[in-house]
Amino acid sequence: MKNILSVLLLIIVPFLLLGQETAEAKQKRMQWFNEAKLGIFIHWGIYSVRGIDESWSFYNRYLPYDEYMKQLNGFNASKYDPAAWAKLIKESGAKYAVLTTKHHDGVALWDTKESELNVVKKTPAARDLVKPFAEALKKEGVKTGLYFSMLDWSHPDYPKFLNNQDRYSDDSVRWNRFLKFRENQVHELAAFKPDLLWFDGDWDYSAEKWKSKELRENINIWMPGVIVNSRINGYGDYATPENGVPIYKPAENNWELCMTINDSWGYQPTDKEYKSPNQVIRILADCIGMGGNLLLDIGPKPDGTIPDKQVKVLKELGRWTKKHKEAIYGTTAGIPKEYYYGASALSKNRDIIYLFVDGKPNGPLLLKGIKNQVNRIWVVGNGAKLNWQVLMKAYWSEVPGQIYIDVPDSVLDEQVTVIAVLLKGPVDLFGSAEKK
Ligand code: GLC
Repeated sequence: MKNILSVLLLIIVPFLLLGQETAEAKQKRMQWFNEAKLGIFIHWGIYSVRGIDESWSFYNRYLPYDEYMKQLNGFNASKYDPAAWAKLIKESGAKYAVLTTKHHDGVALWDTKESELNVVKKTPAARDLVKPFAEALKKEGVKTGLYFSMLDWSHPDYPKFLNNQDRYSDDSVRWNRFLKFRENQVHELAAFKPDLLWFDGDWDYSAEKWKSKELRENINIWMPGVIVNSRINGYGDYATPENGVPIYKPAENNWELCMTINDSWGYQPTDKEYKSPNQVIRILADCIGMGGNLLLDIGPKPDGTIPDKQVKVLKELGRWTKKHKEAIYGTTAGIPKEYYYGASALSKNRDIIYLFVDGKPNGPLLLKGIKNQVNRIWVVGNGAKLNWQVLMKAYWSEVPGQIYIDVPDSVLDEQVTVIAVLLKGPVDLFGSAEKK
């Protein structure tokens, strides 16, 4: 009797606690994520064999389903080195990584008991690819994120199969069977001790039909403390804008921009539209300035090697993030653009403004509306002190003077230069924008 009672308590107490999580408790749970700023997304799957669109290529009928599935035979992971992946990710400055454990095509990268359609049983890779990666990340101190597609176009009980060709429309027995399958697979992921779950493909059905609330409650029990992205019909923790860099600071406190490194999620050698390291770094600075994260995607080859071009971008990111770490990790969104015409960030105690400088300024930088006294200005990662002047300060006006900062060419970074402005006390902005 006593045993049964303690088991019941063990199940019910965390459920009750998480069910009533306060806003403060949530922000605490989200802390590592909000301080991380950079994550690496990895789309790895059988679609890398031909180098075609992940899953969508058969759904949209660019090639027949059977042809798509023949890629199983070429997915060998023969040079897969999870320790090297984890090292490279750490070197890039990313604090977390998210691996596709199962995309919409239904091919699981781990040894799922729920379906034969996994790389262990159906491909020459013949082993679980998720576990060693999760372990390697943990060794490097990088947080583990697992991507999981709710929808599964290969599963015989999933209603949708190809565009305009459904298996069935209404059959609660089949649908409930599918939900149980999904639930069991998500439960299996708990074995990899993820810090973050990244759902995708919730758009096919409503929260009620997906039973998203119930799924979230189960996740809270199976993986206490885990962070969940938004694609679970409103039961997630943070917003996930995709590819379009936000123009305005998103309304949500917690968000992450997921973005391809070229124009594809997975490995596609025909896609040459790579963003340069400079463009990626500027986008990262933009995300930091708006208080969000960048989740930059890479697509390894079927043998598990990461294409050189992608490695190059990650390494250059690594050089930049290492040099400028104080302006990146743990900072919060910067000051509004009316005060500085560019991205900026604030230190934790808000007395340092980090100004991101794109390219080579052809005159002094301008900071406006800062009521504080400026104590010191220096170049982050370089240390050089900079000179500044306060102009336009009329003694009879409340408007603070304009701060002009000289930035000599000799201190410029090859990509984005960061200037630290130390204020006397937490930043105090003049005018209406300060209320925002
Ligand atoms: C989209 C696509 C998918 C991709 C994902 C990444 O939802 O369906 O192919 O994996 O975005 O964010």
